[in-house]
Amino acid sequence: MKWTVLTDNRTNDPTLATEHGLSILLETDRHSILLDTGATDVFIQNARTLGVDLSKIDYVFISHGHSDHAGGLRHLMTVNDHAKVIVSPWALSGRFFSKRLSLHSITAEWPEIPAERLLAIDQSAEIADGLFVIANIPQIHPVPKGNRHLFVEDHLGECVHDDFRHELALYADGLLFTGCAHSGLENILSACPYPIKTVVGGFHLLDHHETKEELKDLAARLMEKYPDTTFYTSHCTGDQVFPTLHSVMADHLHAFSCGTQVDGEALKPTSLPTTPASDNVQIRAATRAQAAEIAQLIMMAMTDDCCLHFCGVGYGLKDFQKMMTALVEREDSQYSYRNTLVAMADKKVVGIAVSYDGGLLHELRQAFIQAAKTCIGKDHSGMDDETQAGELYLDSLAVWPAYRRKGIAQRLLRCTKEKADRMGLPCVGLLVDQGNPAGEALYASVGFRYANDSHWGGHPMRHLVL
Ligand SMILES: [Fe+2]
Ligand SMILES: [Fe+2]
Repeated sequence: MKWTVLTDNRTNDPTLATEHGLSILLETDRHSILLDTGATDVFIQNARTLGVDLSKIDYVFISHGHSDHAGGLRHLMTVNDHAKVIVSPWALSGRFFSKRLSLHSITAEWPEIPAERLLAIDQSAEIADGLFVIANIPQIHPVPKGNRHLFVEDHLGECVHDDFRHELALYADGLLFTGCAHSGLENILSACPYPIKTVVGGFHLLDHHETKEELKDLAARLMEKYPDTTFYTSHCTGDQVFPTLHSVMADHLHAFSCGTQVDGEALKPTSLPTTPASDNVQIRAATRAQAAEIAQLIMMAMTDDCCLHFCGVGYGLKDFQKMMTALVEREDSQYSYRNTLVAMADKKVVGIAVSYDGGLLHELRQAFIQAAKTCIGKDHSGMDDETQAGELYLDSLAVWPAYRRKGIAQRLLRCTKEKADRMGLPCVGLLVDQGNPAGEALYASVGFRYANDSHWGGHPMRHLVL
């Protein structure tokens, strides 16, 4: 694996041009991926100087909608006629502004992207063999304070603080690319379910918003949580910030600049958690401290579309996620950590099963109904019943994609059945969408049987019991 910096704010090589922007070429043994495109065609000029052939790359990854990362895309289209463009639909549609120094647009001028070349990504996904995109990065840890100068136009045309739903991260062969890390470096690292050997990108800590103490605390947390990871940074991290971080991280932190080339050892696919040994996974009762991780998995089970459907006008996934995390932290909600079994692997929550006594639904749902009014602006008091008395109702079951096909969901289901036995409930019940035969096959594999037709959230469902 090799990566080469084609555009950055700085360089040590006088033959290369610089600009406020970032573009890096990542070459693995399977793919050649351009990570961001800088603001202009500077990356193309520098590629020529460095003898890099951009006509051969097969993917372009755009980390977010700002012009210093996406502005060069239209120039790339003139030298490459086939590379697929990985970008968030929010980046393509957003109008972005900065009030840093003075108010100005930082919306990229997008080229026409042929439909067959566009990979509009709004959910985390493996988009090619060994190439993973991380979307919907949860903001559990601090985000850069410099974000306060960054705005986006909302659906009413008002300039509002950017929540960075348009930001994606890319992972390949142990390398995690963070773009500008507007979502917060720790949040991006936490959202990556794969082992991280190298982090590359801007950290967006410029302009002295964070104090030296805050920066040192961040560096110390990174070293504690990721002691085997090496960080490479430049672009928007800030010249004054680097020495402060480096005073804590020492040789775990390096500065890159235009022309930097690093030959790195790729993490072998066998060390990826796409093949975790199932006996390394433990099923346990959840704790309150796992609320944010659990909420993320509940939302994955619900799908983004469904979560947005629950939101009132002007509310989005971040609001929904904040509400869900609070509901998991509570003891009296249906989503409470007390109703949740977690599958643990690599010190992380990789799967969940949320279940509760179906006869208590009305009582348990009050917390959601109240929270929805204040947090996502919608009254859900008229919602359909989804449970039946006399069963342990399985509300949500989810396993991160990288940990699937290892029997974890089946183990969560069997442990849920044991929980029903302990609670003295005769069966576990669940609803599966009539159009989800794969889901039904999973449930059938542990013994669930069809009981009757049902209906929920406007969908015809099948009620299964075990
Ligand atoms: Fe940015
Ligand atoms: Fe940037």
